[in-house]
Amino acid sequence: MSHTPTVIVTGAAHGIGRAIAERLGSPGAGIIVNYRSDAAAAESVVAAIRAGGGDATAVRADVAVPEQVSRMFEVARTQYGDPNIVVHCAAVTHFTPMAQATDADYDRVFDANARATFATLRAAATHVVDDGRIIVISSGAAVVPRADAGLYAASKAAGDQLVRVLATELASRRITVNSVRPGPTRTEKVAATVQPDQIAAIAAGIPLGRLAEPADIADVVAFLASDGGRWITGQTLHAGGGMF
Ligand SMILES: NC(=O)c1ccc[n+]([C@@H]2O[C@H](COP(=O)([O-])OP(=O)(O)OC[C@H]3O[C@@H](n4cnc5c(N)ncnc54)[C@H](OP(=O)(O)O)[C@@H]3O)[C@@H](O)[C@H]2O)c1
Repeated sequence: MSHTPTVIVTGAAHGIGRAIAERLGSPGAGIIVNYRSDAAAAESVVAAIRAGGGDATAVRADVAVPEQVSRMFEVARTQYGDPNIVVHCAAVTHFTPMAQATDADYDRVFDANARATFATLRAAATHVVDDGRIIVISSGAAVVPRADAGLYAASKAAGDQLVRVLATELASRRITVNSVRPGPTRTEKVAATVQPDQIAAIAAGIPLGRLAEPADIADVVAFLASDGGRWITGQTLHAGGGMF
């Protein structure tokens, strides 16, 4: 059965991806809730979307593995029809001083972030329908130098460049391709692992005076994904509360 819109959100079991999947899960929509390891969390996102009147399916795929990305797009097509909206959110964070970072660190971080973005955008370029939306979640780390964040920053910046180029390639089909660049965001993981005094110190560096909530980022994505976002393409939208 065809749903409108059909949406794929990668890394949707936790954090910002979860908020985006739930935000886009309106009645009539069919949402592919991609996850890698936490099936129970993905199913709870599916349940939340269904409770709101949308439909959703959890699909396990490591998006750093191109064959698994292809399979996920096939499931979307079979379940709901080819996607109108793809939001690529999955990524790993990694902080090691450059002098200590290993070649294995490089491979892991670039596989998880740059290769996964490439694989997802390549599949999206083939499958997203005309007038569709492709949105990548970037990071303020790509523009604000921070000690220890070299591999993470470079791997996320790669995604922004893929976005700019793909936007030109898909413009004739009126598909927009953009990235959203969050600043520090208070996900469950951040709330559980970062000490309150550190959170306060981070907030002090953000002009709007607090960390983003995942819903703040989801609202920006929802705007780009809406008809109202139709004239914006090839851009990176800064959603950092004034930090950058
Ligand atoms: N939180 C922030 O302060 C912040 C700031 C700027 C940008 N961002 C960006 O926002 C996005 C979401 O971050 P977050 O903080 O919400 O992260 P999070 O809470 O760690 O959630 C990330 C999710 O992505 C999944 N994932 C990672 N690699 C994957 C892969 N190869 N295939 C499938 N799923 C994968 C993880 O699954 P597993 O549980 O299996 O690992 C996890 O569920 C990322 O792109 C990040 O770079 C975050």
